[in-house]
Amino acid sequence: MKKRIAIFASGSGSNAQKVMEHFKRSADGEVALILTNNAESYVLQRADNFEIPAHVFDRHEFYETDDIIRLLKNLQIDLIVLAGFLWLVPESLLKAFPNKIINIHPALLPKYGGKGMYGDNVHKAILANKEEESGITIHFVNEHFDEGEIIHQSKFKIEPGDDLEMVKFKGQQLEHANFAKVIEQLLKKMKS
Ligand code: GAR
Repeated sequence: MKKRIAIFASGSGSNAQKVMEHFKRSADGEVALILTNNAESYVLQRADNFEIPAHVFDRHEFYETDDIIRLLKNLQIDLIVLAGFLWLVPESLLKAFPNKIINIHPALLPKYGGKGMYGDNVHKAILANKEEESGITIHFVNEHFDEGEIIHQSKFKIEPGDDLEMVKFKGQQLEHANFAKVIEQLLKKMKS
């Protein structure tokens, strides 16, 4: 039986796209649902292109009801993937899916993580500190931003003269090359 993945995204959803592409051709898993807190998110168009159902929610639904947990359970979701999702996951959802929620972060955690550290903010801080390398982290999600157990990291070099766009591009290339593969490895390890 294929494992069922739900992806949460708030923005463009380029990582969600790569995961949807990968699992269209996988024997191990399938993307069963896209969720977003942003009705304007381009991830909704991407979900539509793959004919994957999507659910838009607001703060009230996410933090003050169990509707999303019910939806995920009804769809028999095995793994929750945060792909550019910027809200802290509530304890009720963590408890309902223990060790079943993962996130991708555009830096080498534990450096450059925590509240407010997302997207360009991360890369700007890395450049301001004149770091010589950066990378990506895929990790389990816990009750704190960017602090759960690390599953995978990969690195790239920051060359003299690399600007924000270049650092962002290098990071995104690594994310797109690794995220779906790491998810697939996790699914293979999960008991049926
Ligand atoms: C990705 O770079 C992801 O690592 C980052 O948001 C971007 C989403 O891009 N996530 C965080 O910063 C979480 N703290 P995408 O919408 O194109 O996939």
